[in-house]
Amino acid sequence: MNRMTRVIAIANQKGGVGKTTTVVNLAAALSARKRAVLVVDLDPQAHATLGLGLEKQQGVSMYAVLSGQKPIADVIQPTKWDNLNVIPSEVDLAGAELEFGAREDRLTMIKDALQPVKESGTFDYILLDCPPSLGIVMTSALVATDGVLIPIQAEYLAMDGLALITGSIERIRQSVNPNLELNGIVFTMVNSTAKLTTDVMNEVRNHFGEKVYETLIPRNVRVSEAPSMGVPVVFLDSRSKGAQAYKALAWEFQAKNPTRGVTIAPADPSVPVQQPSA
Ligand SMILES: Nc1ncnc2c1ncn2[C@@H]1O[C@H](COP(=O)(O)OP(=O)(O)O)[C@@H](O)[C@H]1O
Ligand SMILES: [Mg+2]
Repeated sequence: MNRMTRVIAIANQKGGVGKTTTVVNLAAALSARKRAVLVVDLDPQAHATLGLGLEKQQGVSMYAVLSGQKPIADVIQPTKWDNLNVIPSEVDLAGAELEFGAREDRLTMIKDALQPVKESGTFDYILLDCPPSLGIVMTSALVATDGVLIPIQAEYLAMDGLALITGSIERIRQSVNPNLELNGIVFTMVNSTAKLTTDVMNEVRNHFGEKVYETLIPRNVRVSEAPSMGVPVVFLDSRSKGAQAYKALAWEFQAKNPTRGVTIAPADPSVPVQQPSA
């Protein structure tokens, strides 16, 4: 089937903000909505790989493709779930920063690698789980994408962190990838309606307007338990608050990023979209 494939990077130079959790569960929820999804794990820690129930395997990663060992088709792995596939990561990817840093095609290497997959129209969405640094892997991931989804926590100095990543996006847009856009910002691990939290959310919303997703991902213990079982929380405990939120995020994401020209029906009443707390 020929689809229009959208490539979205989930990025934030800060670690521990929920990038990987968002990739895994957004991918899971989109696949449950019958969208064909490919997760590309670009973090040598391989948490997305493990979270999707796969083992790390030497030679089965984007590193193997970038270093010319394997064609990309050979590293795309199915998961236990329909429509949900992954290019795993492995520790070797940690060497990519040094090893590929001087390559002439370093900025376009991931884009070039993904091109045949994009052209094949096999997937609706390719989601890139970026490492927590503004190095060559993340930069080339941003060159390869149509949009960047930024997970953040509503905490002190959140705007400073956002300025860094949006600055990088802007630089890449002005140089190598004029199509790059900010897909959106999603608040993760929301655990309170404390004044600081709501102040930060309001500040981010005032600045980024509609780019901020309505859906808030709450802090939820089921979300943090799921990775050790290798099952996205969306499948592990679909009634948990975390799973419900990620399903709502997938609905919102799909509405913002339609593929195959599909028009999204009005909100599915079984999937409540969380409103930002006032
Ligand atoms: N909504 C959530 N509720 C509870 N724990 C979460 C939630 N989102 C992420 N976590 C936990 O926080 C930690 C960091 O999340 P992770 O997605 O790995 O961040 P990143 O990829 O940005 O480093 C992980 O242990 C993860 O299980
Ligand atoms: Mg991560």
